[in-house]
Parts: sequence; C-alpha cells; structure tokens
Amino acid sequence: MTSNYARYLAAKTTVDDRALNRPVLAELRRLLPAGAPRVLEIGAGLGTMVARLLDWGVLAAGEYTLLDTDRALLDDSRRWLHAWAATRGLPSELRPDGLQIGDLRVRLLQAELGRYLETEDGAGPGARADLLIANAVLDLVDVPAVLPGLLRRLGPGGVYWFTINYDGESVFVPDDPHDDQVMRAYHRDMDERVRYGRPAGESRTGRHLFHQLRAAGAPALAAGSSDWVVSAGPDGNYPGDEAIFLSSILNTIRDALRSHPDRPDRVDPADLDGWLATRERQLAAGELVYVAHQLDFAGRAPG
Ligand SMILES: C[S@@+](CC[C@H](N)C(=O)[O-])C[C@H]1O[C@@H](n2cnc3c(N)ncnc32)[C@H](O)[C@@H]1O
Repeated sequence: MTSNYARYLAAKTTVDDRALNRPVLAELRRLLPAGAPRVLEIGAGLGTMVARLLDWGVLAAGEYTLLDTDRALLDDSRRWLHAWAATRGLPSELRPDGLQIGDLRVRLLQAELGRYLETEDGAGPGARADLLIANAVLDLVDVPAVLPGLLRRLGPGGVYWFTINYDGESVFVPDDPHDDQVMRAYHRDMDERVRYGRPAGESRTGRHLFHQLRAAGAPALAAGSSDWVVSAGPDGNYPGDEAIFLSSILNTIRDALRSHPDRPDRVDPADLDGWLATRERQLAAGELVYVAHQLDFAGRAPG
C-alpha cells in the first residue's frame, strides 16, 4: 500500500466489522433486490466494503463501482482486493478499469462527489444503482447539498445503506483533564472544514441524517448505532492492526488542531502536545480505550 491513509483504512476494517449495526444490515438484506445488483459506493477508499459484503454473503455477483476522489487510493484498492481475493481462494482478474472477483465486476471511478453529481449525465459508471453505499463518508461532505442528487442515482426500488456516520461523541479512557477542550476544538474543526472548495461535513452528521433523509423523501426504514469501540485484550495487545488505527486517529486530531493556530479558542500547543504524548504512551502500553459514537441507516429510494 502506498500511503499511511491506505494503511489506516486497512486497519479500520476489523473496527468497522464489529461496529456495523446488525439490525440495520438485516434490513438492508431484506430490501436488497435479488440477483446481481448494480452498486455505487461513494468515498469507497480501499474498497474494504467489497470484501466485507462478499465475506458476509450480502453480495455474490453484480457490478460494483468504487467512487473516490483519491486516485492513488483507488489504485491501491485494485491491488488490495486482488490480494484479498487470493486469501479467500476466489478467482480474480485485474482489468484496466478495476477487477473481476468471481461473478462481481468492480470498477474504479476517480471523481470528487460534488462535481460528479453536478456533471455526470446519468450515463457513466455508477449512474444508475440498485444499492448506494457510503461508509464513514457522509460526515466528510455537505449532506444537505449532495443527498438529493445522490438518491437520484438509485433506480426504482433502489436501496441505500449509509453507515458509520460520526455523531458528536468521542471518548478516550483513562480520563484526561484536557479531553473536553481537545474534543471541542476537534468538533469545531469538523464543523468548519472546507475541502475541494465545499463545506466538508459536520460533527453531528449521524443525528441530522434522520430529518435530512426524510426531507429528501427517503426516510430511514432502519437506524441504529455503530460505535467504534477499541480496547486491548487481556494480553495488552490490540486486535489486528487496531493499534495503527488508534495511532491514525490521534494523528488526525493532532493535524486538525494544529492547522488553526489563530483560533481564539485553540488548545494551547503545549497542552495539546502533552495530551497527545499521554495518549501515545497509553496506546503503547495497551491502556488506551477509544469509543466514537456513530449511526447507520438503511432505506429506499424516494418513491
Ligand atoms: C474515512 S474514508 C472511508 C473510506 C471507506 N469508505 C472505508 O470506510 O474504509 C473517506 C473516503 O472518502 C473520500 N472522500 C472524501 N471526500 C470526498 C469527496 N468529496 N468526493 C469523493 N470522495 C471523497 C476520501 O478520499 C476517503 O477515501
């Protein structure tokens, strides 16, 4: 894998596996049209959801488009999925625009979501989907602006599954006197973030989706929590690569808070450095526990 971000997404897989809300997933299975669906996943990253849905028997065949703005990540995803298929003994073949895994055709589509929805004429890859997936993504985009266009990608009877939507609560244990200040500043950064010239998400995405989906004519048919809960086992080791995952979360908070040195309510740099050093020590000792509150939703295309 070429980037730290790709390593983070690979390490996140087992955390998401535990977190994804099972009753919401059961509703998705119930709603999903039989056969070989056309799937569009936005902000698909490394494509780990393809592997999960094949592993979990949610999909076996169809056309799956991975849309992401990050070209390097999509290139990684092609190799990562090919290697993953080999570990499962699944036949897989690289193609110029993606790969074939058994009866599932995977296509890579490099596009910024807002621009894709404005310019795509409805004929390109992912243009009409039976299943629309966004995992750990809607909290990075301007939901009210993109949701109606996104739902228009679904054909009649189409289904959405919007998962791991951050919802305003991160917990680090053991408690630290600077936790509240650090989290307040982190949430403010999320709320004011601009990427690709557009507002890029907010810290309470999860709870706001209930009414945003309703306003878009596609109220959730199932909703539930998908909290990330990460702690070391009795031997002091984190499962899988979850120590890498936690380290990436700490780096993300560090980068977000250091990028706005002029804010009047910024965390004092010495306090931030002290907080990070404490958390990194706890991580190395297997003492750090991390919980992030998130919500999952499944429902149908507007009627
Ligand atoms: C937190 S990662 C989640 C990746 C994947 N869904 C997963 O859960 O492993 C968010 C992904 O969304 C992509 N992304 C963020 N903003 C985007 C945008 N405006 N248009 C397209 N992709 C975007 C990023 O490049 C990144 O790969």
